[in-house]
Amino acid sequence: MTCVFESARTAVYAPLTHHLYTQVIFQLTVRCLSGTEIADDDAVVALLKRQYDVLAETTPTTVLLPWLPTPAMVRKLRATKVVYDTVVAAVDARERGGCARDDTLQLLLDAGDDRATIIGFIMGLLVAGARATGTTASWLVVYLSAYPEWRVEAKEEILRLLATHATESATSPLQARLASIPLAAWEADTPVFDALIRETLRIAQPHTAIRKNLGPDVLVDGKLVPAGAHVVYPFSDVHLDEALYPSPWVFDPTRPARQGKMEYLGFGGGNTVCLGNRLAKMMIKLSTGMFLLAFESSVVDATGIALAEAPVPDWNDAVHARPTRPCYLEYERTKVIL
Ligand code: HEM
Repeated sequence: MTCVFESARTAVYAPLTHHLYTQVIFQLTVRCLSGTEIADDDAVVALLKRQYDVLAETTPTTVLLPWLPTPAMVRKLRATKVVYDTVVAAVDARERGGCARDDTLQLLLDAGDDRATIIGFIMGLLVAGARATGTTASWLVVYLSAYPEWRVEAKEEILRLLATHATESATSPLQARLASIPLAAWEADTPVFDALIRETLRIAQPHTAIRKNLGPDVLVDGKLVPAGAHVVYPFSDVHLDEALYPSPWVFDPTRPARQGKMEYLGFGGGNTVCLGNRLAKMMIKLSTGMFLLAFESSVVDATGIALAEAPVPDWNDAVHARPTRPCYLEYERTKVIL
């Protein structure tokens, strides 16, 4: 993995840091979920990222009248075609070349999946994974920059993980040492990161679940949902509920994990739980860990003065959850990179 951060004072979200971070996460997602031909080509990854950004643009018309050929819908169609052509080209190249690789595309081909399934899988999972993971990772960096005590704890956890589990020697490059930590350790031995990610998802993932009742009519909490109707459920209903999470806008990873049914929906609930949650957490821990080891950072205003309070995510900004007021991330390289 290449580290793309540079030492500078840069605007959070508007535009550079959010862009950089989502770019890193997008690259990681492409690497994990598609083929080497795509992931190794920076220009193709950038092209795909631009298409997925177009696909994420929503207007009232694209939601309410998706069949109407508005300019926004035409842009989306064009973007889908570019993504489709790119994935098809990678599948074709692999099949023609006949050279096996160690990646997801190979896994699907070896499993005997048909072409349409493989293309649909890659196209769909890139959209499912990249956006939410990028937004979550960006907000986690913002919170770690706003709360030095959490930055220290998270950094110590990564250092302890390296000391305890890395099999590469201390003289190896940082990415090689991080890569040598077994998956089991990343998943079972990072309680601080788990709490941080959990709280970031609660406060900065404005997700809304949508379901269609395929029939028959059903009563939900005393309300009739007729067959064929859609039900929309914003996660703010629980995640920002004072009764469940006192002072809900405060970032507090020490909150006790709510055990009640549907009281925490960070990765979904009931029959629909995120199938990529392990991958997402891994990408967030790895990228944030690298950032913490390489940079010191703080959240400041436009004049460089530290903010008294952490920025607040805008839940009406369903795709990016940008802060409600402009703010900046000040960061510089640390002298010693472990
Ligand atoms: C921090 C990052 C992520 C968050 C917050 C997240 C969140 C969610 C949520 C809330 C759902 C349930 C949606 C609903 O009920 O309407 C979901 C479903 C899903 N997610 Fe994720 N997700 C993330 C990353 C990923 C990644 C990286 C992948 C792909 C590897 C992925 C693949 C999926 C899939 C396939 C489903 C549908 C599961 C089903 O229908 O049974 N997600 N995700």
